[in-house]
Amino acid sequence: MKSRFDLMLATTLACLGLAGLGVALGGAVYAQEIHAGAYPQQTGEDLFRGICQGCHMPDAKGAIGAGAYPALANNMRLAAAIYPITVVVNGQRAMPNFGEDLSDAQIANVINYVRTHFGNHYKDVVSPAAVKAARR
Ligand code: HEC
Repeated sequence: MKSRFDLMLATTLACLGLAGLGVALGGAVYAQEIHAGAYPQQTGEDLFRGICQGCHMPDAKGAIGAGAYPALANNMRLAAAIYPITVVVNGQRAMPNFGEDLSDAQIANVINYVRTHFGNHYKDVVSPAAVKAARR
């Protein structure tokens, strides 16, 4: 049974850099799930809850701890949609890339969600075609 909890746990473990702990807890299962490349969530909210909030926090205000996770809330850097598209598709420093693990539509949905929630009010909608164009 591959539950949402497993995915969240895998994401959280990845965030904390505790892949070793994952192995200790559940054998190779967690490590495989981190790289399985299959996130079942489709809506922006579900994707945010299932993937992004593990690092950027449920309120999207970010965190500083084992690493520095920038706030996505009230973030003016999201104004030009190409920026979050590029970061999510290709990754950026400690931010993992999701280009291989998420479809164009999933990436568009989660970016549209973030750009219209958490104090962000960007009106232009990101299309799956725009995500596709940003892939290297
Ligand atoms: C494993 C932890 C982790 C996960 C999961 C994660 N991020 Fe990030 N994210 C980061 C880190 C760390 C940075 C800072 C990267 C840097 O140094 O430029 C970042 C940066 C960003 C930025 C740029 C913010 C800025 O102000 O420059 C965006 C946009 C972003 N992430 C969106 C997302 C979205 C959307 C998701 C879910 C699909 C997500 N992130 C999942 C760790 C994560």
